[in-house]
Amino acid sequence: MVQLTDQKPETELLIADVLKSLRKSPKELPCKLLYDERGSELYNDICEMPEYYQARTETRIMLDNAAEIARLIGTNCLLIEYGSGSSDKTRVLLDTLEDTAAYVPIDISKEHLLAAAKDINRDYPGLEVLPVCGDYNNHIDLPTPSKEVARRVVYFPGSTIGNFDPGPAVEFLQRVAELCGPGDGLLIGVDLKKDVEVLELAYDDPAGITADFNLNILRHLNNDIGSDFELDAFRHRAVYNEDEGRIEMHLISEVDQEVTIDGVVISFAEGENIWTESSYKYSPEGFARLASKAGFTVKHVWTDEKNLFSVQYLTR
Ligand code: AVJ
Repeated sequence: MVQLTDQKPETELLIADVLKSLRKSPKELPCKLLYDERGSELYNDICEMPEYYQARTETRIMLDNAAEIARLIGTNCLLIEYGSGSSDKTRVLLDTLEDTAAYVPIDISKEHLLAAAKDINRDYPGLEVLPVCGDYNNHIDLPTPSKEVARRVVYFPGSTIGNFDPGPAVEFLQRVAELCGPGDGLLIGVDLKKDVEVLELAYDDPAGITADFNLNILRHLNNDIGSDFELDAFRHRAVYNEDEGRIEMHLISEVDQEVTIDGVVISFAEGENIWTESSYKYSPEGFARLASKAGFTVKHVWTDEKNLFSVQYLTR
């Protein structure tokens, strides 16, 4: 059966984290708080929208190039996935890779992780599945597979790397590099720079699904730490910051208001914003430069015909 390794950090820090972020100027909230149960469902809805090209384009790229990707990764790899969620995209890889030594999905949500690991275990009978519940922003101790490993390959799809500011992005890639020895690999999804209109529509859709997703962060806080945010008193805004090369999601306070969190009163002026997420967009050269700071060399970049998104294979 599937054996879970639990390295989940204590989450007692949540209230302190939230207050610290809201005391910054401009106010912020950690974007990982967007993904509670409902937030994850809304994100799945986002992936179905015509305006949000990322998810379907990445899957297309994986399907179109699976054989070549598998050839570069080689046989008997230890496949490690960060933020594995439902492990959907991984199936394309597992279907094509030969003699995978073991699959190590890593995710912070224990229930989703175990459910996904069990599904993979059922559908890929010969494959050893070694799930780790943990935060990939911390150090992770890898479980030991029973088969011999030719190389370790970290899979980090979904352009989640885009949520990191450049400094933390390099630190993150350095932590990945620490897991890897020379010749080991990183297969990563990276969203590309493109027309501002296309980007802003993807993050501010006419149906308002992204707005619901963004506002849900306040509902999540109300549910989990008993704050009293009024969702109707904030509105969603997404803008592309050309200089920084990133989409910024904000929540704008519609009125002067006060919110109480764990007995602490936080004031919002009308028009004041809470910065909830950044989503950096890279040129292939820009990403290669960033990755080289962590000791990675880009071996191959796969894109779609419109150059919307990229899947890249890097080695140490
Ligand atoms: C899950 C981080 C890839 O940045 O595009 C979607 C999250 N935010 N719409 C992204 C998101 C708003 C998404 N990532």
